[in-house]
Amino acid sequence: MAKIGIFYGSTTGNTEKVADLIRQAFGDENADVYNVDVTELADIEKYSYIIFGVSTWGVSDLQDDFEDFMEILEQVDFSGKKVALFGLGDQSTYTDSFVDAMGILYDRLKKKGVKIVGFVPRKGYSFNASMALVKDQLAGLAIDEEFEGNLTGKRVNEWVEMLKKEFV
Ligand SMILES: Cc1cc2nc3c(=O)[nH]c(=O)nc-3n(C[C@H](O)[C@H](O)[C@H](O)COP(=O)(O)O)c2cc1C
Repeated sequence: MAKIGIFYGSTTGNTEKVADLIRQAFGDENADVYNVDVTELADIEKYSYIIFGVSTWGVSDLQDDFEDFMEILEQVDFSGKKVALFGLGDQSTYTDSFVDAMGILYDRLKKKGVKIVGFVPRKGYSFNASMALVKDQLAGLAIDEEFEGNLTGKRVNEWVEMLKKEFV
């Protein structure tokens, strides 16, 4: 079994695509990818290192499948586990709610006492406001496929290099 579990919710496929890129960057043998649509509690609990990916919909809403998945996520025993987050959003059209779903997820996990790693500097993005901001950092990797898809590969690779030091 791979040591990292990547769990994503995706409506048009963008978050799914990034989940696959993250897996490739770790090396296919090191990470398994799950759509939260078909994920069960036991699927999550077997990993020590977990990555959650969620896109933002409506205004500041969790992606639909991820919203349903929150019920399962609340039941996970995260003791001894490290978690990292990534979020898909559009910083131009939704400049006041950029990757808010990642921020909502971060808050829920924080309340559960989960150890979260993989923060990313705000510098390099151009949005007005985000619930994912923790001081001057984003609570995880933010990806904008609409306007900065050309940066996705580089952003993923740099983030994964940082996570490799945490997921040991
Ligand atoms: C109706 C609609 C609402 C959206 N709301 C937000 C939002 O509030 N914040 C944000 O950052 N992105 C927002 N987005 C952009 C999506 O999060 C973005 O397209 C993302 O890549 C979708 O990922 P997915 O295909 O994996 O679900 C919205 C997009 C649409 C079409």
